[in-house]
Amino acid sequence: MSPTSVLLFLLQLCCLQMMLVSMPTCKLPGKMVRQTHDLLDDMGLRLPTQCYQLSSDIHLPDSVLSDASTKHSKCRWTSLVVYECLREANLIFTEYDVPEGEGGLTWSQQKLEYYQNLQDRLVEEYQCLNTTEASAVLSPFFRNVTAVVEQQDGSACGWEILRSDLLQVLKWALHNHHGCFNWTRAH
Ligand SMILES: *[C@@H]1O[C@H](CO)[C@@H](O)[C@H](O)[C@H]1NC(C)=O
Ligand SMILES: *[C@@H]1O[C@H](CO)[C@@H](O)[C@H](O)[C@H]1NC(C)=O
Ligand SMILES: *[C@@H]1O[C@H](CO)[C@@H](O)[C@H](O)[C@H]1NC(C)=O
Repeated sequence: MSPTSVLLFLLQLCCLQMMLVSMPTCKLPGKMVRQTHDLLDDMGLRLPTQCYQLSSDIHLPDSVLSDASTKHSKCRWTSLVVYECLREANLIFTEYDVPEGEGGLTWSQQKLEYYQNLQDRLVEEYQCLNTTEASAVLSPFFRNVTAVVEQQDGSACGWEILRSDLLQVLKWALHNHHGCFNWTRAH
C-alpha cells in the first residue's frame, strides 16, 4: 500500500469511530425512568370505576407490549416505546391543564410537578434516533386519549387513562426489560 492509501484508510477508520461515538445509543437512564414510574404510581389512586368503560375502549395496541412483532431488537423497541410514550404524554401535559376542583383529579400536586420535570428532561435529553415506527403504533391510542382530555366534562377519565396506561408501559419495560436501561450512575 502506498502511504497515501494508508493515510486514507486511517482517515476512514477515524470517521467511522466518530460516527459511532456521536450516535445516540438510545439507552434511557434506568434510575430516572424508575423515578417517573414511582411518581406516577404514588400521585393518585387506582383507575376510578367510572372510567372502566372508557378505558376498555381506549387501550394500548397489543403490539406495543409484545416482543415478537417487530424487526427491532427487544431493547431497541423497548426504548423507542418508552421514549415515544413520554414524548406524546409530554405534548398532552404541555397543551392541556389537568382538571382540578369538583369532578377533577385528586392527584398530588407536588408529585405531579416532580413527574413533569422528569418527563421533560427525559424527552429533552434522550432523543432517540427514529421513533417513526413506534409513533405509528402508538398514535391511535394517544389520539383517543387526547380527544377525551379535550372535552369539557369527563376529561378527568382521559387523564386517569393516560396515567394508568403510561404506568403499564413503564412497569412492563422496567420488569421485563430491566437490562435495556442504563443503570450506570453518573459520577
Ligand atoms: C380509539 O377509539 C376508537 C373509537 O372509540 C376505537 O374503535 C379504537 O379501538 C380506539 N383505539 C385505541 C388504540 O384506543
Ligand atoms: C425513520 O424510519 C421510517 C420508517 O421506519 C423512514 O421512513 C424514515 O425515513 C426514517 N426517518 C429518518 C429521519 O431516518
Ligand atoms: C450510562 O450513564 C452514564 C452516567 O450517566 C454515562 O456516563 C454513560 O455514557 C451511559 N452509557 C450509555 C451506553 O448510554
